[in-house]
Amino acid sequence: MNNLTVVVLAAGGGTRMKSKRMKVLHELGGRSMIGHVLSAVQAMEPHRVVAVVGHQRDEVTAHIHAMLPDCVVAVQDTLDGTGGAVRVAMEALPTTSGTVVVAYGDTPLLQGETLVRFAAEHEAAQRAVSILGGVVADPFGYGRIIRNVDGEVQAIVEEKDATPEQREVREINSGILAFDAAFLSAALPRLTNDNAKGEFYLTQLVQIARDDGLHVGAHLVDDVQQTEGANDRAQLAALGAELNRRIVTRWMRDGVTVMDPATTWIDADVVLAEDVTILPGTQLLGATVVAEDAVIGPDCTLKDCEIGAGARVVRTHGELAVIGGGATVGPWSYLRPGTQLGAGGKIGAFVETKNAVIGDGAKVPHLSYVGDAEIGEGTNIGAGTVFANYDGVQKHRTTVGKHARTASNNTFVAPVEIGDGAATGAGTVVRRNVPPGALAVSTGPQRIIEGWAARRRAGTPQAEAAAAALAAAETGAQPESQPESQPAGEPAGDPARRDDGDTGG
Ligand code: UD1
Ligand code: CA
Repeated sequence: MNNLTVVVLAAGGGTRMKSKRMKVLHELGGRSMIGHVLSAVQAMEPHRVVAVVGHQRDEVTAHIHAMLPDCVVAVQDTLDGTGGAVRVAMEALPTTSGTVVVAYGDTPLLQGETLVRFAAEHEAAQRAVSILGGVVADPFGYGRIIRNVDGEVQAIVEEKDATPEQREVREINSGILAFDAAFLSAALPRLTNDNAKGEFYLTQLVQIARDDGLHVGAHLVDDVQQTEGANDRAQLAALGAELNRRIVTRWMRDGVTVMDPATTWIDADVVLAEDVTILPGTQLLGATVVAEDAVIGPDCTLKDCEIGAGARVVRTHGELAVIGGGATVGPWSYLRPGTQLGAGGKIGAFVETKNAVIGDGAKVPHLSYVGDAEIGEGTNIGAGTVFANYDGVQKHRTTVGKHARTASNNTFVAPVEIGDGAATGAGTVVRRNVPPGALAVSTGPQRIIEGWAARRRAGTPQAEAAAAALAAAETGAQPESQPESQPAGEPAGDPARRDDGDTGG
């Protein structure tokens, strides 16, 4: 586009949001409303973008600059209408040639390609003013596009200024207008505010251009819903649902299987490969990327995560985590920032991870906390292991080498290292480094105190069950009901012999 300026209006207060936060900063699909608009605007490759701010200008300006550092910000002190807002924008610019497109900061469904086609038609037709419009079932509240008997656009008449006859018109101004910059600059001072709202209407420029004998016209789009704004939270939710419906539909068209679009939420910046499958109740948020053949869900929330090809993630809450190809996660796993699971690895049920690099094929299958850790490839961490990373003051790291086998119910008191091929016994509290290939055990030998239940728990079902089992063992008969566990004898030899602890699951 030749010398294109885009003006984004965002000075209005948005009081109907009833919020501390400015209207255009409210989010849907993982971005602010104005973030969606600025993203759509980028498709036109504008020369410059000017945002007009008013209410909470500091917050809005900071937000805009975080996204678009080059954005010119113009302040509208008095909210005297859309014409007044554009005047402020034009005053902030050094030059006044080319095309100016005016958009609003609260229309999150706006598509870049719509703007591109609109601006291209405006320039090709050499118009002073072009209106992006459409025909709607209920035009209430919109400016109506008024045409003469020849069908030529004459004016935009606002709802409050319209005659009953004009109110019947269902062809509306979306609010997005394109101007010849020279005309715009020259004509803005001619706006008047002798209208129902006492404001300077930008839309009056259609009439002014006509009066000057210049070309004006409307570019009608079927999907004018994409220019809808959200004024309150109910509208925000409705637009959010519609945005999601559009995003989910687009991904399905691009080869993603979505079992239940209604319970699948995908943010605007998420990227999915072909043959990804998403099961019900799944939210893919932020900058999440999923590679081909991965199956996500049911019931996952993944924010800013990277999921490898063919990975399987079930009922998992994850943030800033990287899951390798073919790896499995869940159900009920909690992946906190800095989690990195290697290819073919496993993070299983009721496992929480944070700042944890888990190697290829390594497994943390059950009931564990892995914080500030590195686990080498092929290693298996036993059920119920806690990486005790916090000494009450500072966090420390634990390193477990390759192909290690650590047993159930271990505690690794960081900082500590467990070498390649090392092992631990069940219930071990590892406080000192374990050399490669060594076995670490820290639990004492098991003691058997015969007759304890009879003496210390006399008269209880526990004592009765024990007595019955002992009597049955003496007579060689089976007791009436089998006790849940047989009294175990001390294993011979190495006290860690039975401490395999590796659940192998
Ligand atoms: C405007 C149009 C109307 C169109 C409708 C589409 C005018 C006069 N009317 O009406 O034809 O059908 O949008 O939604 O242009 N703003 C400022 N500063 C101001 C006033 C408004 O920045 O002084 C911003 C608002 O924050 C908002 C946008 O401009 O983002 C539109 O303003 P609003 O008052 O909502 O205009 P409408 O009455 O809806
Ligand atoms: Ca409006």
